[in-house]
Amino acid sequence: MIQYAKEEGFAIPQMNVNGLIWIEGVLNAAENQQSPIIIGTTDKNIEYLGGYQFILDTIKNKVRTMQITVPVLVHLDHGLSVENCKCAVDAGYDSVMFDGSKLSIEENIKLTKEVVEYAHANAVIVEGEVGAVGGEEDGLIGQVRYADIDDCIALVEQTNIDTLAPALGSVHGKYQGEPNLGFDEMKIIGSKVDIPLVLHGASGISNVDLQHAISLGHAKINFNTEINISWTNQLRETLNESEDLFNPQEIIKPSIHAIEKTAEKIIKTCGSNNQNKVFT
Ligand code: 13P
Repeated sequence: MIQYAKEEGFAIPQMNVNGLIWIEGVLNAAENQQSPIIIGTTDKNIEYLGGYQFILDTIKNKVRTMQITVPVLVHLDHGLSVENCKCAVDAGYDSVMFDGSKLSIEENIKLTKEVVEYAHANAVIVEGEVGAVGGEEDGLIGQVRYADIDDCIALVEQTNIDTLAPALGSVHGKYQGEPNLGFDEMKIIGSKVDIPLVLHGASGISNVDLQHAISLGHAKINFNTEINISWTNQLRETLNESEDLFNPQEIIKPSIHAIEKTAEKIIKTCGSNNQNKVFT
């Protein structure tokens, strides 16, 4: 699915979820736009989400009961250890990311390879990372470290990963100032590896830059912050409207709608709307 997106020049959005209402909002958006979708659960959040098996089953149950017809992949975002990636594979995830951003390239290759061997034996795809996406996500804080081009080639060639996330200046959370992506490096990496690239930290990046990244080989683009901001803004607005409001549905429903609208906007930016037809 991601390889096809790369060939056709669009990207499949990964949207991270923080519970049931995110799952509903994102699935509604994907169905409305007839877009394949990747639902991400960040490893750092897994306990809060109820554990690998619980959140995976919840997503799959929602896909079934909402009668979603578009393809939905469930992905472990920033797997923190080989063991955690294996737990996600055992639970039935479709895709896992091993986050080797704090390791030397040698150690990153060794551990990513271990994840790939286990995941591929279970028909699960693997995303590898080179360099480090900066910023803050769910309490995980990191500095930007640009991906080295030779390290990217080595990780791809030596591990057999399916997608590569080269960190090239994007950050998780809110940007301080203008995002400054390394398009020159992106162009070289995109031309040297033939697997799809993954862009993390997409919230706050302009549509022009996102299109540029897609044209250079990015076929999976990750969003979290933008969705959470729209949810928070709507929740705040609803609560400010009346101090007497306490009916949970009246409070929560508009915020699900906000998630849905933002997710639809993201899908259109990535160009994955109406791309369902090829997978059915
Ligand atoms: P944002 O924080 O920019 O939405 O990035 C999300 C992300 O990259 C998840 O891996």
